[in-house]
Amino acid sequence: MSAVPSPHREPIIELTAEQFRSRLTEALNVYVTAMGYPASTAQQRAPMWTAHVQREGWRCIGAFDDRDELIGLGYGYIGTPGQWWHEQVRRGLALSGGAAHGWLDDYFELTELHVHPEYQGGGLGERILRKLLESARGANVLLSTPEGPTRAWRLYRRLGFTDVLRDYRFTGDPRPFAVLGRPLPLEA
Ligand SMILES: CC(C)(COP(=O)(O)OP(=O)(O)OC[C@H]1O[C@@H](n2cnc3c(N)ncnc32)[C@H](O)[C@@H]1OP(=O)(O)O)[C@@H](O)C(=O)NCCC(=O)NCCS
Repeated sequence: MSAVPSPHREPIIELTAEQFRSRLTEALNVYVTAMGYPASTAQQRAPMWTAHVQREGWRCIGAFDDRDELIGLGYGYIGTPGQWWHEQVRRGLALSGGAAHGWLDDYFELTELHVHPEYQGGGLGERILRKLLESARGANVLLSTPEGPTRAWRLYRRLGFTDVLRDYRFTGDPRPFAVLGRPLPLEA
């Protein structure tokens, strides 16, 4: 039976790198379940998520149920030249003529944001995102998400994210993505 979402109950806390590593299997399980990916995707992602912890400005927020199981997470870090995602977006901006805006000059990359399906639709994702961005460094926050409409889109628009790139194809993924951004800090 699905849990009734209760947006003010689940504790959300910042995870240290050590806590994140020890919760990695749980975190990847939330990710593949939320995204509807096959379980094998979790193993493929594990080395990348572990490497991300080392990046400048990395921070992670986790949400827990009353049995201390991870039910949602968000993480990100400072984006810098040479990182795969940064270079992909730079290419897209160059092609679209959007490079002049300076989006990539100083930004926090929202890399992952996922809530277990049983807990979606109650405001938990927004709480995680707000807490993650509270102390995030960077003039802007940037993210990429598959073209909508999805609940993620509604969340990002509600929080004031605007278009950086639309219908963009990242290398190796046939799906069209949007890159969205907004200035930091996020207002209360
Ligand atoms: C995207 C995602 C993280 C959003 O988290 P979420 O907890 O489901 O969503 P939100 O925090 O935005 O909550 C939104 C809903 O809760 C409702 N809500 C917000 N605050 C609430 C409150 N205090 N009480 C009750 N409901 C509330 C809103 O009305 C909203 O409804 P709607 O989306 O139907 O318009 C989550 O849905 C998810 O993991 N999706 C799959 C993975 C994914 O797409 N990740 C993003 C990839 S870029």
